[in-house]
Amino acid sequence: MKIAVLPGDGIGPEIVAQAVKVLNALNLDISMTEAPIGGAGYEASGDPLPDATLKLAKESDAVLLGAVGDWKYDKLERHLRPERGLLRIRKELNLFANLRPALLYPELASASTLKPEVVSGLDIMIVRELTGDIYFGQPRGISKLENGEREGVNTMRYNESEIRRIGRVAFDIAMKRNKKVCSVDKANVLEATELWRQVMIELSAEYPDVELSHMYVDNAAMQLIRAPKQFDVMVTGNIFGDILSDEASMLTGSIGMLPSASLDENNKGMYEPSHGSAPDIAGKDIANPLATILSVAMMLRYTVNDEANAQRVENAVKNALAQGYRTADIWTEGSNKVGCNAMGDAVVAAL
Ligand code: IPM
Ligand code: MG
Repeated sequence: MKIAVLPGDGIGPEIVAQAVKVLNALNLDISMTEAPIGGAGYEASGDPLPDATLKLAKESDAVLLGAVGDWKYDKLERHLRPERGLLRIRKELNLFANLRPALLYPELASASTLKPEVVSGLDIMIVRELTGDIYFGQPRGISKLENGEREGVNTMRYNESEIRRIGRVAFDIAMKRNKKVCSVDKANVLEATELWRQVMIELSAEYPDVELSHMYVDNAAMQLIRAPKQFDVMVTGNIFGDILSDEASMLTGSIGMLPSASLDENNKGMYEPSHGSAPDIAGKDIANPLATILSVAMMLRYTVNDEANAQRVENAVKNALAQGYRTADIWTEGSNKVGCNAMGDAVVAAL
């Protein structure tokens, strides 16, 4: 196995270092090569996705990514900004299926801002389409109208095959879980998502054992807070999935707990925490590395096909939490507050 390690910006390098520590502790036959992306890519070669980084990612079996972005790049032209590097690598590698599991570890029930009885036992898989929608749709841009006023344009677009392939991923995952798929759209207003709903209904004929429901995105946002345990698999487009997965992360106690896998047709994948680069806490050794470590578990599960070691890593995380170790974002009275590095060590020790 060849893994491309792309730490990125902000807290990226420190959380990725913990995940690498965990991978090394497993003693697998894996080679890791590091390369810059995002602001780090821009600093290294004037491009948020340097050619050499893309080449390495394409030649590797999997990519482990930290996070990209820093306010100091906000004034750059859009195509030079860190986020563009991330969006481009997703598109170039055709990573259309983004899996974001929102799972509550029982030890963290009191770390959530919601009541423990609302979130305990929570286990949702958010399946977000990642290479289409308003993120990539043309036309886009900011231009001048005839009257001299500026206008900003983005376009929400989905074609049938894009919807069908992400739908398939969601239905296949549901078959291995509780056989429920909730498709989230805004079919009452947006035609692009009216088509989304039609295709999901057509596809569901191939999955008679799976119960398909539909929810408008505004209602879904509300239901996630009101009664999150009603969901098993949620499938939605790129922009709605971006928003709902951040929301769902707080059900698990902290966005620092939410891993992700972004997969192509052949389960080659990029693995990254769902959170951002948090430049305000970078370099302070206070970031939570667990989302990145749990992303390594997803890498073992989906790309390496090594379910045993995936579970070993997940159990080691549970074990470290059960021993009372907490980074600042999930700390509650009476638990043992540790830094990023010490949390990585606690997981390795538990392994
Ligand atoms: C995410 C992030 C990215 C996204 C940003 C950094 C471009 O928010 O992975 O959820 O919007 O997809
Ligand atoms: Mg996001």
